[in-house]
Amino acid sequence: MRNRSVTVIFGSLVLWGLITYFLISDQPVSKEQDTARVSNQISKLERRVKQEIALNQELFQNIKEDKQHKKKIDTVNGNTGGQHKDTNHVNQDKILLEKEEKDIENNNINAHEVQTDPVHLSETSHNVPIKGKLPNGSPIIAVLVFSCNRITVQRCLDQLIKYRPNVEQFPIVVSEDCQHRQTAEVIARYGNQIMHIQQPDQSDIEVPPKEKKFKGYFKIARHYGWALNHAFFELGYDTVIIVEDDLDIAPDFFEYFLGTYPLLVSDNSLWCVSAWNDNGKAGLVDENAVDVLYRTDFFPGLGWMLTRQLWTELSPKWPKSYWDDWIRQPEQRRNRACIRPEISRTRTFGKTGVSNGMFYERHLKYIKLNTEFVHFTKMNLTYLSKDNYDINFVNQVYQSTVVSFSELKNGKVMAPGAVRIPYYSRQAYKTTAKQFGLMDDFRSGVPRTGYRGVVTFFYKGRRVHLAPSANWNGYDITWS
Ligand SMILES: *[C@@H]1O[C@H](CO)[C@@H](O)[C@H](O)[C@H]1NC(C)=O
Repeated sequence: MRNRSVTVIFGSLVLWGLITYFLISDQPVSKEQDTARVSNQISKLERRVKQEIALNQELFQNIKEDKQHKKKIDTVNGNTGGQHKDTNHVNQDKILLEKEEKDIENNNINAHEVQTDPVHLSETSHNVPIKGKLPNGSPIIAVLVFSCNRITVQRCLDQLIKYRPNVEQFPIVVSEDCQHRQTAEVIARYGNQIMHIQQPDQSDIEVPPKEKKFKGYFKIARHYGWALNHAFFELGYDTVIIVEDDLDIAPDFFEYFLGTYPLLVSDNSLWCVSAWNDNGKAGLVDENAVDVLYRTDFFPGLGWMLTRQLWTELSPKWPKSYWDDWIRQPEQRRNRACIRPEISRTRTFGKTGVSNGMFYERHLKYIKLNTEFVHFTKMNLTYLSKDNYDINFVNQVYQSTVVSFSELKNGKVMAPGAVRIPYYSRQAYKTTAKQFGLMDDFRSGVPRTGYRGVVTFFYKGRRVHLAPSANWNGYDITWS
């Protein structure tokens, strides 16, 4: 019965979406601005239909899981609570992992059962108390620091502790992998200023022969998976900022995340807030626009905030390696965007690491770290919500004057304000990006910092949009 009604809802939604689509696309469109508005409406509609479909699928999945779950619940019920954790004991870890998987299941079910069937609440609620809010209602945001074998984690921790405005609001959890004695000692010295956890599974990872030299990426993915499960499902945090052991942070790092937190939890089209501008080199940012933030389709990482809800979604399918490129795939991103700043709130100081040292020397080293404190929690940031942002953004980009790189470089542009350099192919994008010193790579078809295909930066006192055609209709994954 329930299955059939799900199918009926699903079918009528698709039909409704299609009809509305044709009604809208039937209207005559003359100017560029109209095109932008209509395409905006269509993509909004498309998004709504997709969301409904996803919701229906989730509901369907949960009905199935619910049945399995009811069978299991009697056998495991007495088994979940109050176990003492011995991080060196492999069997115990297996139990822990199973428990975590079960917690994830419970979580999914809870989200729906709360509204539909309160009887299940007592059965499915688990023992870990959620640390979501302070008594005054402000969110608790844990900072999860990933550490392996670099004693320079000290530099990162010193800054986090120095700039942390409130110990209760921003607990720092340092997760240590690799069992590197000196690093563990450095972390231990911080005493109760931080919480020190250790990734227990130090077993060798089976890596396909061709990928032997990328083994580090497999270890990183395993560490991330474990530590995020631990932070969300064992420690019970609702929101986590991920920091790696080689990051410097800006004085307003915490203020930035606290100020953008309401956006992240209220706008379903956002899935992260990142402190990082991939093109944030001195000379490519407006040093006066310290408070300006953007939406980006490109997942930046490098100091980023996520919610329990997102982790509950990603955790069951977390990959064995290359998690950052995996997370950028359409199946994971699902058209969601991140917030990123004009001027980065993190900068990486580590040039030795798993990823290429050349990349550091040529690029990362020049990223400008913000120094001026911006009171983000006191600002009105509603301009960043999708409905407000997209209309303004598309208007700004496509009403701006079209120029060429050489005109800009030689100061030949007379019109004031923002300018646009169009690109219509992968190669054209890469050529222009190189001329400006922008990152020229694509991941899952998305250029770094891109939003609706547009890469926005600053050059010789002007906002510049490197932009595809106005009737752009999505990223081309073959451009990667
Ligand atoms: C915040 O800005 C939006 C425009 O983005 C405006 O509509 C709204 O009224 C502002 N809210 C406050 C409290 O100023």
